[in-house]
Amino acid sequence: MPETFAFRFGEFPSNLCFYTSGEDLFAGLDVVSFDQNTFPLFAKYAQPQHRVVWPAGEAHKDLSSIEQLLEVCLSAGLGRDSTLGGAGGGVVTDMAAFAASLYMRGCRLVLIPTTLLAMVDAAVGGKTGVDFGGYKNIVGTFYPANEVRIWTGALKSLSEREYLSGLAEVIKHGLLGANRVWDLVKEQRPAVLARQNSVLDELVREAVLFKARVVEKDLREVGERAFLNLGHTFAHALEAVLNFDGTLSHGEAVAWGMDRALSLGVRLGVTDPQWKDEVHELLTAYGYRLRLDGVLPEEVLGAMKNDKKKKSGTVRFVLQKSRGETLLQPVDDKLVLKTIQEGL
Ligand SMILES: NC(=O)c1ccc[n+]([C@@H]2O[C@H](COP(=O)([O-])OP(=O)(O)OC[C@H]3O[C@@H](n4cnc5c(N)ncnc54)[C@H](O)[C@@H]3O)[C@@H](O)[C@H]2O)c1
Repeated sequence: MPETFAFRFGEFPSNLCFYTSGEDLFAGLDVVSFDQNTFPLFAKYAQPQHRVVWPAGEAHKDLSSIEQLLEVCLSAGLGRDSTLGGAGGGVVTDMAAFAASLYMRGCRLVLIPTTLLAMVDAAVGGKTGVDFGGYKNIVGTFYPANEVRIWTGALKSLSEREYLSGLAEVIKHGLLGANRVWDLVKEQRPAVLARQNSVLDELVREAVLFKARVVEKDLREVGERAFLNLGHTFAHALEAVLNFDGTLSHGEAVAWGMDRALSLGVRLGVTDPQWKDEVHELLTAYGYRLRLDGVLPEEVLGAMKNDKKKKSGTVRFVLQKSRGETLLQPVDDKLVLKTIQEGL
């Protein structure tokens, strides 16, 4: 039996289940979506009657993929009490969850995240969606999974780059107040990087539970959940300027963004400079690039202002006083520009 933690996100009960093997991951699922890379990982475990295997990658995170899955649900005669599954990274889990929220106005949903990012972030917390009209995640719903089934064994085949991308989000949870996560990433770096089983299991569990506790208090991001965007305002703007061309992974952009957010806080007199230095050292030790070339700071600032997360015309930055002490604040453009310049 998996170790299970029960949560309630808004009106949705949601269990986080930690598995020690891949064998039972697909029990009870009526239809499962994968991508081309995740289906082969599970070929020996997955025996659902019905499946969809999408091409891998963000380029396929669109309404036509959703339609494809809904068609399979319909032709398989699934009902509202049927269970739809999604086994893959954040692209697959976001889309499977979106489709489940639509099919018969909401059917049962089980997510099986297979990237570190999907385990500690995308699959937990109920945000679903697809890209549309050139905007990321602009169409979607809040629809937490009935169960998220986590098996860290799936991470063994993940590329170094994807692993480090997810690790930036794990480290972010450490900054925000997941104390055990912080201790592990600080003190066990070689084991973390080597994906050593016991350390990885604990790291993932603590990071996921941290996120789940935040979401439990604020599913629809009207308060504390926004803190999870630490570094993301900078990161999204940088990714937009780079046109998501693969120069940086999302996590690499988030690492750069967290470093920038703490520098901004120091400029404002909000952040303890020692804390900023400690985080900078840790991110550097993990190999994240915190100084980038070939990007114009004015373009990053411009992209930031277009960010869909801006509220009432003002970008609010997630800042920190120190570890676990986080706040939201609008900041003058000139200071933001200087902070961006310093990171390029
Ligand atoms: N819903 C949310 O709250 C939330 C939060 C963060 C990110 N996201 C979304 O998540 C997506 C990014 O997720 P991602 O980084 O997991 O990307 P992804 O789903 O594209 O996966 C990255 C790559 O790894 C491959 N892969 C997946 N699991 C593997 C494994 N175990 N072994 C080998 N290869 C594997 C995939 O096929 C893909 O090529 C974005 O679309 C983003 O918008 C959603």
